[in-house]
Amino acid sequence: MEGTTEYLAGRIPAPPEVALVLGSGLGALADAVEDAVRVAYGEIPGFAASTVVGHAGRMVAGRLEGRSVLAFQGRYHAYEGHPAAALAAPVRVAAALGARTLIVTCAAGGVNADLAAGSLMLIADHLNLMGQNPLVGPVLPGEERFPDMTEAYDRSLMTLAESVAKAEGIAVSRGVYAALLGPSYETPAEVRMLRMLGADAVGMSTVPEVIAARAGGLRVLGIALITNAAAGISGTPLDHAEVVVAGAEAAERFQRLVRGVLRGLPRPGGSA
Ligand code: HPA
Repeated sequence: MEGTTEYLAGRIPAPPEVALVLGSGLGALADAVEDAVRVAYGEIPGFAASTVVGHAGRMVAGRLEGRSVLAFQGRYHAYEGHPAAALAAPVRVAAALGARTLIVTCAAGGVNADLAAGSLMLIADHLNLMGQNPLVGPVLPGEERFPDMTEAYDRSLMTLAESVAKAEGIAVSRGVYAALLGPSYETPAEVRMLRMLGADAVGMSTVPEVIAARAGGLRVLGIALITNAAAGISGTPLDHAEVVVAGAEAAERFQRLVRGVLRGLPRPGGSA
């Protein structure tokens, strides 16, 4: 991590306040970053090249809504074969560079039948069903061995996101995100199981980043775009193309929400 941090510290224009991890179909927000410095993941020492269609795989540092941001356009997934620690590398490096807030986003299937495709869900809590944890191994500098996960997703950031959503006329709900390894989608029986366990949405990411963020003391806002009803709910087969299409369709709403949150974040050392 040290070499990675040093390398990026030499390339970014300013220390980031906020790290943004942009999931499937949601990466366009990084194109709006001003005074942007773009670095492909493949160029960053300690990062692997990312492979999935719809994921650009680059870091974009610059300003958005007057805040210094470090956006990750495309993420590593466990199902690509990356070890859990590699999934957490972007968040860890953002923390090492100074970010104190993480806004993490993803595409997800709706397990709760009330969640329509195209809707946005604030992640209020999660179920880690990936069978992995990025903190396994030695404790890294600046991280805790046993981070408390009682409030993994920051209440005040959720409240802020809800007030932005209300002002912008964007519908959002709160729910529990279940993370599975993938890459096969769930079976209908698994989706019924997830519903019994209390999940509202299901995906294959996000949780490793959130765990690393909490270990490093970052505040987290999680936003899931429901791209489809989870398997067995609508009766139609799932297709990755619909995930990408739903992302494009929701991009404008999603960007307004995140921009509003960035505007509303408390200023370091300021009153609001
Ligand atoms: N399941 C898991 N991950 C997903 C889904 C889904 O239905 N949709 C988008 N990501």
